[in-house]
Amino acid sequence: MLESRVGTTEIAGSGLSTVVPPELPILTDPAGQFARNYNRSSFMFQHGLKDHPLFALPSLVALSQRLPAHPDFAYWSNGRVAVTDPWEKGMSERYSLQDTITNIADNNSIVILKHTEQDPVFGPVLQALLSKFVEFSGAQMRDDVIVGESLVLITSPNRVTPYHFDAELNYLVQVAGDKTFNVFDHTTTTQVSDEEYEAYFSGSPSSAVYTDARQKAATVYDLRAGSGVHIPVAAPHWVKNGNDVSIALSINYELKSVARRAQAYWLNHRLRRIGIKPTPPGVSPWRDACKRASANGLSTIRGLIRPATKAPPYQTWRPS
Ligand SMILES: [Fe+2]
Repeated sequence: MLESRVGTTEIAGSGLSTVVPPELPILTDPAGQFARNYNRSSFMFQHGLKDHPLFALPSLVALSQRLPAHPDFAYWSNGRVAVTDPWEKGMSERYSLQDTITNIADNNSIVILKHTEQDPVFGPVLQALLSKFVEFSGAQMRDDVIVGESLVLITSPNRVTPYHFDAELNYLVQVAGDKTFNVFDHTTTTQVSDEEYEAYFSGSPSSAVYTDARQKAATVYDLRAGSGVHIPVAAPHWVKNGNDVSIALSINYELKSVARRAQAYWLNHRLRRIGIKPTPPGVSPWRDACKRASANGLSTIRGLIRPATKAPPYQTWRPS
């Protein structure tokens, strides 16, 4: 379907329509960089969803109205934030989700719509994208993925997304607008410390510490509509939007290998609190195995980094 011409396809019985993407391939990989750099280093790529009409604001308002009214399905924050602020900033008093999206050009906000690959209108395009990243990255990714998810990110002109890192492997797909995207090396302890990882995997999603010294070593991408950037797991990043509304996708994946590391960091956080200097994961296989056994019962990354909530049940995407 993704190679079809521009047009509209009705979803049987739903009263909804889905827009067939343009003739451009949804994703290309002429240099083989997806497999070569997978989860090792950030890189830019090109995609076929630039300024696609499916992602116009009225369509995104309608998408938000189809999602369950639960925090697991939408995050939004109003007002100015700095690169050093936590995710909670701008959430205490805020406009409604739909008002925030409708007036995104003027309200200095960010909206993240979650699990959008399950939406009847957006799902076919977003699931195709989820599959393409796995196809280009090969068995090293396919064999490690637990679930994949698509987030739609809607942000105001010049809005900042604070410095943070994520437990998911991420492909940021810029659909409309532009942004300056800063990515930091996740493999050196000068850029992100074991203590920051330990706190994150123990339930502190804003544990990453921004410093001017770290900024000097950032890789900075001038991200325009039609391009994207790969962010390895736990690589810190922060974003400053350009002068227009930005629409982007976060196509991300939970990995089995990260779930194992998360267990070790979770246990190391507790060891450090009682005065023991723990060995980071990846240094000693037998220590890692012991820690996994100790942390048994916390077997999924979802359980480690997300609070237990009574979210409505939903389908998940997994590679075929
Ligand atoms: Fe992120």
